[in-house]
Amino acid sequence: MTADFGELGADGLARVRVTRYVTPLREGGSLPGIVEADDLGTYVCKFRGAGQGVRVLVAEVIVGELARRIGLHTPRLVVLDLDPEIARYEADEEVQDLLNASPGLNLGIDFLPGSFGYDGDPGPGSADPAKVLWLDAFTANVDRSWRNPNLLLWHGDLWVIDHGASLYFHHAWQGGSLAKEGGPERFAQQPWNSDDHVLRQYADQLPAADAEIRRQLDESVFAEVLATVPDEWLEPVPGAETPAALRSAYVSFLTARLRASQWLPVAEVSA
Ligand SMILES: Nc1ncnc2c1ncn2[C@@H]1O[C@H](COP(=O)(O)OP(=O)(O)O)[C@@H](O)[C@H]1O
Ligand SMILES: [Mg+2]
Repeated sequence: MTADFGELGADGLARVRVTRYVTPLREGGSLPGIVEADDLGTYVCKFRGAGQGVRVLVAEVIVGELARRIGLHTPRLVVLDLDPEIARYEADEEVQDLLNASPGLNLGIDFLPGSFGYDGDPGPGSADPAKVLWLDAFTANVDRSWRNPNLLLWHGDLWVIDHGASLYFHHAWQGGSLAKEGGPERFAQQPWNSDDHVLRQYADQLPAADAEIRRQLDESVFAEVLATVPDEWLEPVPGAETPAALRSAYVSFLTARLRASQWLPVAEVSA
């Protein structure tokens, strides 16, 4: 009898069906919207048809699950099955187009009611801000600036959201970069610039965060994380034609980067 509510897909993320489109989140660049689902949950929906493609959803899942593994707060993720029929009840043409472009599996992020955007004021809660910095450096996330912190405060804690702009190496895979250059080593050596990061002032705590996180992550953890990404979003690219091959490519990129450490920002020495 539990099968109707948040049934686990083979991949481990619950799969639920969208029952209603509620409202767009206008501040988001990717046109996310709030939807309700048949598990009676309310989710922020990231649409597969939003223009940046399913790779953005893959990055959201991988980095969101990594965040959870290293002890950060991040909203629960689900796979939202969308029947574009619901577009019929939508007056807004832009929303109609988005729903029609997104049949099938979309990403759902548990909506945190009453949360508000981090503004640097109440200070991070129990989450370790240096771990957020570490995660963004490791995954080359470029989307956590003062302009756009992608951090929410909720129930006194700091929650990380919006990880679509990380792991950008995968955008070149479609053009054949995976087959041509291999790539994991290149990603491993790629520096990351913390100048714009909203939590850059915590860089002096990175060595401790780094030591702790390196005890929590390894190749097998990456494989578990990749297992949560639905097959449907792992579209073939030259050099990786199946979901399994794509998963193993992501695992090699993450594993190579974990072995390196020059991407980790170094705290500025104050005079
Ligand atoms: N799980 C959530 N709960 C509450 N509000 C959210 C949640 N996810 C996103 N939001 C709000 O919606 C905005 C846009 O979502 P975000 O994931 O940052 O998408 P975008 O890629 O469009 O920036 C966020 O800045 C935040 O204000
Ligand atoms: Mg955002």
